[in-house]
Amino acid sequence: MSDPIALWHTEHANFATLLDLLEGQLDLFHKGAPPDYELMLDIMFYMTHYPDVLHHPKEDLAFARIKERETSAGPIVDQLTEQHARLKRSGDALVVALDDIVNGSITLRDHVEAPGRDYIAAFRSHMQMEETAILPLAAKLLHDGDWAGIGAAMLQIDDPLFGKSSEPRYAALRRKIARATQATKAVTR
Ligand SMILES: [Fe+2]
Ligand SMILES: [Fe+2]
Repeated sequence: MSDPIALWHTEHANFATLLDLLEGQLDLFHKGAPPDYELMLDIMFYMTHYPDVLHHPKEDLAFARIKERETSAGPIVDQLTEQHARLKRSGDALVVALDDIVNGSITLRDHVEAPGRDYIAAFRSHMQMEETAILPLAAKLLHDGDWAGIGAAMLQIDDPLFGKSSEPRYAALRRKIARATQATKAVTR
């Protein structure tokens, strides 16, 4: 896909799918049912190895160009940039918390439920702000040359879960996403 705004939006939709899956697991253990901690860990491993490593840093470069051309966007851009740092810290902490549970060193579900729900809410509201306030501005203000410059400044990493050559560690998560997508289609049919 070559349209950078469409790709940006697609990535948000992918992250939203993962946040829904993560929330579904938190709902399970809220009801007393056993959640799939490995799946939750795979989701958070991805969140801390793709959005935090590529999506957000790329946005930071786009934000800088937007701010240069539209000074009134400064406060929201600064807020979103700060949220990137906060999401990274809370995502990393959640990976450690899930790892503690998977390796058996901690067994309390509260160890992940509250931070998990906070992470989901913060990530959703972050994407909502970007979708409503930034993507339309980017479509108006950034041109092919900007995207080429942004692309050249970034590490060239393929999306390890939704990309063409997805990593084997995400095989179970991919199956889960495929089932969830099919179930959604069946409901909306
Ligand atoms: Fe962002
Ligand atoms: Fe984003």
